[in-house]
Amino acid sequence: MGEFKGTIERLRRMATIELGDSGSFMAHPMSESLFRQFSELVYEQCGINLHEGKRTLLEARLAKRLRATGMDCPEEYYRYITSAEGRAELIHFLDSVSTNLTAFFREVQHFEYLERHVLPEIVERKRAERRFRLRAWCAACSTGEEPYSIAMTVLSVLDRPETWDFKILATDISTKVLAIAEQGRYSRERLAKVPEAYRRLFFRGSPGGGSADTFEVIPEVRRIVTFRRLNLKDPYPFHGPFDFIFCRNVMIYFDKSTQESLINRMAAYLAPGGYFFVGHAESLTGLKHPLIYVKPAVYRK
Ligand SMILES: C[S@@+](CC[C@H](N)C(=O)[O-])C[C@H]1O[C@@H](n2cnc3c(N)ncnc32)[C@H](O)[C@@H]1O
Repeated sequence: MGEFKGTIERLRRMATIELGDSGSFMAHPMSESLFRQFSELVYEQCGINLHEGKRTLLEARLAKRLRATGMDCPEEYYRYITSAEGRAELIHFLDSVSTNLTAFFREVQHFEYLERHVLPEIVERKRAERRFRLRAWCAACSTGEEPYSIAMTVLSVLDRPETWDFKILATDISTKVLAIAEQGRYSRERLAKVPEAYRRLFFRGSPGGGSADTFEVIPEVRRIVTFRRLNLKDPYPFHGPFDFIFCRNVMIYFDKSTQESLINRMAAYLAPGGYFFVGHAESLTGLKHPLIYVKPAVYRK
């Protein structure tokens, strides 16, 4: 009987290895109270609300981290990531529970509005004031497609971009996505929504390797974007002000009180008249904040 139990245990472990990212089969299933402890930790650390419906997701991601660290007991892993020595692993764990879905020119209406309304207005005002500084913050930039889409849009509007001091701060909590973003290399499929003219102007074949189907954002665009790790719940180590902020498809993971506090803190970093973009599935309705509604998913200070 003991031998039989041992075999089952081995099979369970093999299943954990083979199921990979999508598998939620852990050698030691998680108790109700441990699930609560993990979800409270995630909420405290980054504001993401892992309710009961996210249990499978948490178990799958946890199984992966257990394999990576060679631990096989979720309790032991919890103790480790909440200890001082486990700080680096805590960052990997938070990386693994956040969802990084993004795309070039995602929610294209925002880029059209930026190109046709926001930028012409800002550029005209700044030209008149002879101030050629332009700053944007992309506050949950994932693998970089969003800040690079912003950079390409702005560069296509400015008639002499080299005369402008134009920079984008792109931040995310996940070090894993930031590493990809910094490389600025994407497959042909990921470029599907990039207009052909932008593709020719702002990308080149990946030099020094990569497959023929890999494209690289040109250095002139990459130089505009600075990537930094930032948890939106932590203090912001910069001053701003920003002419516009993109904070899209991240608020959705936070509860109302966290959303309200973040909007208010971020709004303080907008220049007067600056624009604030949220995801179209998000809304600031019901939250107290100092911004004026402009159109769906666009606000203004
Ligand atoms: C679904 S992606 C959205 C990416 C992009 N803004 C877009 O709309 O395509 C959400 C991103 O938010 C990041 N994120 C989650 N919680 C965060 C937090 N507390 N602080 C900063 N970034 C966070 C995730 O790592 C992920 O890259």
